[in-house]
Amino acid sequence: MAKVIRATQAELEAAVEALRDGELVAFPTETVYGLGANASDPAAVRKVFAVKGRPSTHPVIVHLDDVKYLRRWAREVTPEAHQLAEAFWPGPLTLVLPRAEGVNDVVTGGQDTVAVRIPSHPMAQQLLTAFGGGIAAPSANRYGRLSATRAEHVREEFGDEVKVVLDGGECQVGLESTIVSCEPGRVRLLRPGSIGIAALRRCVGEVLVGADASSPRVPGSTLAHYSPQTPVTLVSAGELDARAEALSEGGQRVAVLAQRLPLKTYQYVTWINAGKRVDAYAHDLYANLRTLDKAGCTRILVQEVPGDERWDAVRDRLVRAAAREALTPADDSTISLGVLP
Ligand code: TXA
Ligand code: MG
Repeated sequence: MAKVIRATQAELEAAVEALRDGELVAFPTETVYGLGANASDPAAVRKVFAVKGRPSTHPVIVHLDDVKYLRRWAREVTPEAHQLAEAFWPGPLTLVLPRAEGVNDVVTGGQDTVAVRIPSHPMAQQLLTAFGGGIAAPSANRYGRLSATRAEHVREEFGDEVKVVLDGGECQVGLESTIVSCEPGRVRLLRPGSIGIAALRRCVGEVLVGADASSPRVPGSTLAHYSPQTPVTLVSAGELDARAEALSEGGQRVAVLAQRLPLKTYQYVTWINAGKRVDAYAHDLYANLRTLDKAGCTRILVQEVPGDERWDAVRDRLVRAAAREALTPADDSTISLGVLP
């Protein structure tokens, strides 16, 4: 299949017109697809929340095509923020910075900070440049569900509710961006992503991990998140076959997301071997979970991933995907990134 990485002129014009009219445009980034609105139009951003079913207190990321526009959104850019921007933009990094005057509350969830990212996907760049402003975009999925890494996933999520969907093929990274807050003298990892803690520390030295009472909140980082409809259970590699076999023998259809082949064939088991390479695993994670979610199974067993830092972002998403069934809505609280060192 050919890689589609640039929109046609007609597609681009339709997308820009929709944004100027206060409508939503779904677009590819290198991490996941975004559901975008004109970040300077509060009514348009409100539509994003309505379509996603997302609580209005959860802030959204403002996407820009160039660092020269950063000052319009952030009143203070610390030296560390400059270093991170220099090292990782355009790319899968989001910086949380003190917000500039005039940035709407609907974008920031009423917080004093704003999240900003410069994506590297050529089609995202093309759209941002043609639009000429900031695009506020959360991931293009219904609240709490799996992010979309292909245009067809966006259509599955929203159907006709989102008219313009730019198709830029499969997202290269497949997991949402690394989120880092930069307050004076303090750099803090708020959400793990493909840019890991070691790379951040090489760039700026000390990096704290997880939110605390005084740091910016990441209200979207609720424990239960990134979930398929089918209940997910994490299982150690050693127990995987026995668990799958027991459920299958009990007559239940079972889905398995593993990093190896099954030891033998089980009657009611749909098994995906996602492999041992972290980049490929992350790239395919949401597509694999979507496939397994549609397989008509009563449960998805996911093989626990390795404990080292390279797997932090994947592990974070899997722990959250597995958390849903154990929680009541009242427990939908923000957690610290306990899975990180
Ligand atoms: O890769 C990504 O980051 C994708 C693509 C589309 O750019 N976007 C994305 O957006 O994952 P979303 O809304 O699904 O997740 C963004 C997270 C949310 O948990 C939100 O609470 C947090 O970023 N966030 C946004 N603004 C923030 C702020 N000012 N302070 C703290 N957290 C913030
Ligand atoms: Mg999201």
